[in-house]
Amino acid sequence: MTTLAVENLKKNFGSTQVLKDIDMEIGTGDFLVLVGPSGCGKSTLLNVIAGLEKQTAGQVMIAGRDVSNLQPKERDIAMVFQSYALYPSMTVERNIGFSLEMAGVDKAVRAERIREVAELLKIKDLLKRRPSQLSGGQRQRVAMGRALVREPQVFLFDEPLSNLDAKLRVDMRIEIKKLHQRLGATIVYVTHDQIEAMTMATKIAVMKDGIIQQFGGPKDIYDRPSNTFVATFMGSPAMNLLSGVARKAGSEWVVDHGSQQVAVPRHIDVSALREGQEVLLGIRPEAVHLTAEVAHDDRIDQVWEFERVIDVTEPTGPATLALFEIDGTEFHASLSGDAVVEAGHSYAFTADLAKALVFDALSEQRIAHVDEAGASEADQAA
Ligand SMILES: Nc1ncnc2c1ncn2[C@@H]1O[C@H](COP(=O)(O)OP(=O)(O)OP(=O)(O)O)[C@@H](O)[C@H]1O
Ligand SMILES: [Mg+2]
Repeated sequence: MTTLAVENLKKNFGSTQVLKDIDMEIGTGDFLVLVGPSGCGKSTLLNVIAGLEKQTAGQVMIAGRDVSNLQPKERDIAMVFQSYALYPSMTVERNIGFSLEMAGVDKAVRAERIREVAELLKIKDLLKRRPSQLSGGQRQRVAMGRALVREPQVFLFDEPLSNLDAKLRVDMRIEIKKLHQRLGATIVYVTHDQIEAMTMATKIAVMKDGIIQQFGGPKDIYDRPSNTFVATFMGSPAMNLLSGVARKAGSEWVVDHGSQQVAVPRHIDVSALREGQEVLLGIRPEAVHLTAEVAHDDRIDQVWEFERVIDVTEPTGPATLALFEIDGTEFHASLSGDAVVEAGHSYAFTADLAKALVFDALSEQRIAHVDEAGASEADQAA
């Protein structure tokens, strides 16, 4: 069932268009993550859904009801902000129960709901304290508790973990994911942390300049980004993009990049390529290995082999990042943590092309895969 739908939504601040024709819908139990660079309109979209900002045009539907012109409290949503916004003079207990108190919910029912939520969030021992007597992570839990106690149709989170240290962020990320699984809640969650996006989402909307660039499951967004913006925004280090020219060599297609010649991967629909077309070849850092380490791995089918002198190495523990240049383009390889490599030395590399992508250099759109070819022809016909 569709729990939240946003239709033809526009938002201007003065003459600036901050949201341009946003269309999306999510079902009950979906965890939608809005990601994108600073200033792309994530918080504005969330605030319009919440009713804290008024849309310039378009609709917001919650559980089949047009809420576009309703007050925030009439929308059946609960919001958790980056700043938590707890009432400093109230105890944790009262902070959590305050919205129920305002709604005139009976004291005994209120106490029972607070107890349930406190148990769920493991903050039972903190109920008598005030926000100033809590750590950042504990305050974050209280802010969550305040939202959970209301059992709304949709939870809205705006970067709720960004004030926490790295370790606590990871812990809370898992806690929120567990809560989501347990409650089956419908969530819209803003972050610019792409690890949070990939790990928590059932759906991701990647935004740029007030436009949704792509809406889909995390795996689709990662493996089949619709354009170079999405491709390089998701993933760290970013996907390598090598510019080159597509050319037919016998029965195969290749991309000429400077002195290098790389086979166009077999999963690419070459009927969409033109002889001489300027393209960008997309290769993720984790697809690049030391040839010495893959020499006997026959699962790797189609490859591009090259030699390069490494400029910089960055051992991170689980991986060793190597940076080098290929004909003037910076290129990242994410090698195994055990790889023994040194800056200033030359190595043979093997790039696995199983997941490589090809983009048109001009439009920056991804060239379709063979299994999408039917769909793209239908699009062209339409
Ligand atoms: N009340 C306002 N008046 C005028 N412009 C605004 C207002 N609120 C936001 N903006 C502008 O709208 C754009 C989108 O802002 P928004 O806060 O939605 O971005 P964001 O994606 O949440 O960014 P961040 O990741 O930095 O939080 C920005 O250019 C911002 O300056
Ligand atoms: Mg924001």
